[in-house]
Amino acid sequence: MGIKIVDTVFRDGPQSLIATRMTTDEILSCASILDKAGYHALEVWGGATFDSCISFLNEDPWERLRAIRKACPNTKLQMLFRGQNILGYRHYSDDIVEKFVQKSLENGIDIIRVFDALNDIRNLKSAVTATKKYHGHCQIALSYTTSPVHTVEYYVKLAQEVEKMGADSLCIKDMAGVLLPDDAYKLIKQLKANTKLPIELHSHCTGGICEMTYQKAIEAGVDIIDTALSPFANGTSQPATEAFNYALKNTKYDPKLNQDCLNQAAEILTKIKDKYLANGILNPKALSSNPNILKYQVPGGMLSNLMNQLAKQGAMDKYEEVLKEVPRVRQELGYPPLVTPLSQMVGTQAVMNIITNERYKMVPKEIKDYLHGLYGKAPAPIDQNILKKIIGDDKVITHRPADDLKPEFAQLKEKYKDLVKCDEDVLSIALFEQKAIKFLTEKYHPTPKDEVEEFNLYVG
Ligand code: CO
Repeated sequence: MGIKIVDTVFRDGPQSLIATRMTTDEILSCASILDKAGYHALEVWGGATFDSCISFLNEDPWERLRAIRKACPNTKLQMLFRGQNILGYRHYSDDIVEKFVQKSLENGIDIIRVFDALNDIRNLKSAVTATKKYHGHCQIALSYTTSPVHTVEYYVKLAQEVEKMGADSLCIKDMAGVLLPDDAYKLIKQLKANTKLPIELHSHCTGGICEMTYQKAIEAGVDIIDTALSPFANGTSQPATEAFNYALKNTKYDPKLNQDCLNQAAEILTKIKDKYLANGILNPKALSSNPNILKYQVPGGMLSNLMNQLAKQGAMDKYEEVLKEVPRVRQELGYPPLVTPLSQMVGTQAVMNIITNERYKMVPKEIKDYLHGLYGKAPAPIDQNILKKIIGDDKVITHRPADDLKPEFAQLKEKYKDLVKCDEDVLSIALFEQKAIKFLTEKYHPTPKDEVEEFNLYVG
């Protein structure tokens, strides 16, 4: 059977290249064409798309999902779900997780890809249970990273655990694009030999090696690969869908996508890409490969965040020093994979260690929470001297962090009953609080134009 393809052109592609600014209209301009291409699934939704909709695009993310569903009756729709963090940055109570899963499936999602930054599978449990309960396909993604503890055996053991937990498929999520071709071959071979789960590979072209890695993974028996239609492929995004459709043609791996559909959609999206190049949202730098991510083993997004943080402090001369500090911090913190929110946390700590000239003199609240066990279990033991220096003899929790959270949904629904019109609105508020309140207030109670003028006149 041929390789199955998940196209990320509506989610990870725009997230990697244009800060998730693709609008619903732009998506709908070619969604119905791609619906006929023969994909395994289209990836359409995730934390950044949701956030960008309400914070920048003034669009309701739930309406976007329903519109894509309507335009794509033949193709499965997939979303990315951060375990107990759902689409946000903190742990939510189990009732919010369940409700969010239920509403995502009701509004059009078929496949929920659930991951936890630390690969602490206790943080996946309630999302998995809810996905099964509401008859969705539950894919568990393991965050891929390199460290002395992140061996092939480590991933095989985790894969067997998530299989037992009820996952329908497994994804290796290489958000940094650091998985080397030969390592991919060994990893996929062992996963295929030791589980019955279909295996998907998600990586990024950032380091310039992704096509080679995918090819070796295909030879090792991977079932599904994530690619992006060419206008939003390569650079910090996934490799181009069309490239794999041509490269594997007439082999036993032939994905058999409809090339005419791909061409038609690519033509439309190329015009959209050109607009983002012209207005500067698409930085041409994001389109070239950057071998530094292989040298420092950090995701491309994190490199640009570090640059921004240092530029704001007028400390760009410290860039190399900070990049050397990142692996040190990561080791001391028990080798967390550098994926949201840990990538931001480790990056900020590394910047603070260098800027203040004293390591761990300043520590963000999130790192303190992490050391208290509030994000789950670190992959490797945490450096005890660092732990003592930062949190002293404080209690570190060893149970699942969400066990301490009380149900939140009913209370939120009551609190915002004058603002919300449906459970989806309550969920938007649960996850994005002030941003969602502002968005919904504007959506349901837009300030009339002359009132604004009157107000301006008043204060003027
Ligand atoms: Co990605």
